[in-house]
Amino acid sequence: MTADVREREAEKSIAAVLRESGAAFWTRDPATLHLKYVNEGIEDVLGYPSRRFIEDRNFWEGLIAPHERSVTIDRLRELLRHGRTGSVDYSAIHADGSQVFLVDSVVAFGAGGIVAGVTALANHERLAVSANVATRQTSARKDAEELQRRQSQKMEAVGRLAAGIAHDFNNILTVITSYSQLLLSRFPPDDPGRADLYEIRKAADRAVAMVRQLLTFSHRSQGEQKIIDMTAALLETQNMLQHTVGCQIEIVVLVEPDAACCLADRAQLDQVLLNLALNARDAMPNGGTLSFELGTTVVDEAFARSYLDPDIVPGEYITLSVGDTGQGMDSRTRDRLFEPFFTTKGPGKGKGLGLSTVYGIIKQHGGAITLLSDVGRGTTFRIYLPWTSHPSHELIVSPGLPS
Ligand SMILES: Nc1ncnc2c1ncn2[C@@H]1O[C@H](COP(=O)(O)OP(=O)(O)OP(=O)(O)O)[C@@H](O)[C@H]1O
Ligand SMILES: [Mg+2]
Repeated sequence: MTADVREREAEKSIAAVLRESGAAFWTRDPATLHLKYVNEGIEDVLGYPSRRFIEDRNFWEGLIAPHERSVTIDRLRELLRHGRTGSVDYSAIHADGSQVFLVDSVVAFGAGGIVAGVTALANHERLAVSANVATRQTSARKDAEELQRRQSQKMEAVGRLAAGIAHDFNNILTVITSYSQLLLSRFPPDDPGRADLYEIRKAADRAVAMVRQLLTFSHRSQGEQKIIDMTAALLETQNMLQHTVGCQIEIVVLVEPDAACCLADRAQLDQVLLNLALNARDAMPNGGTLSFELGTTVVDEAFARSYLDPDIVPGEYITLSVGDTGQGMDSRTRDRLFEPFFTTKGPGKGKGLGLSTVYGIIKQHGGAITLLSDVGRGTTFRIYLPWTSHPSHELIVSPGLPS
């Protein structure tokens, strides 16, 4: 066997391995970044045949999520200009309409030389699925959709029940608080009955606070929404959060250089951050890291239906990921944690109202919340809030939903 033949055999083997892996192999013009060659692996990754990418030089760029487009291309250029090896990750829209997370590994042989690379799915689950058959992919998505639909219906039913109970309780509590207040004003300051009456009043106040949380869960609490710069809000809250979780836990805040704004009620947003931080603190009794990471993403209909919430309107979203290195959760807890009064913390320690309040607030803002958690492997909540473009802090846009 000649060296030439051996080399071609080796090339074929490499191509076969890459084909099997479900990744795409390509070469580009280092000056223009245009694709010169891409193998069939691209169909597994983005769902389109390779010729589409060669025929239309801008086709690939057009699939990159709009808000990531320029930064992704700049990063690729930067690598290529200096003939460096490296990787760039970004999200793109698959032919089936779903969002895929990709990683491009680039090898550039000197400035002006050959530029080659591999594009693969960053999400391993998806990689495994796409390396198999397309029908499996469709059925996996359908299962996810069905699960999401059922979860959403369950929360809707629990929300209605909670709203009904909270509403009736609110009326009863109004009677208790106003009559106990009236009686308190009639008792002379040294009357021994006054202390007892005061206890009744205090208990009623606590019940009012609980009912308010339930109303928030069922999206019926009042709120004043303004345009909020999330980066600034997060940095402002950092001290308060550090104080809450204590010095054993290190807080890390990662924000994008561009301000990410959304329409939100600032007080409710702080309540979300506080509840998540308190849970993280409880999950890390021996200390650890609590991270807040802000980013932006595009949510399409298929992604919303399968992974977020069928009620979500497709478009650009701010993402806030809150991660801890704590004890994590098992599947039983994961399935129920947004339900009001679900707690694993034991009597007197938790009421199980923290996350249901968070859920209600996020829903009320037209957003969604997801989580990634496993026993012993920490927990990351990811919040999606509709992105808005006006960085004005003063503008009052809507008074929120009526109760
Ligand atoms: N970061 C986390 N790590 C591990 N488990 C968590 C985390 N966050 C929530 N959980 C689990 O979810 C349950 C529900 O949380 P939620 O905040 O609603 O209630 P709680 O913390 O138990 O009580 P409350 O917030 O009313 O004081 C918790 O009891 C806990 O089991
Ligand atoms: Mg809690």
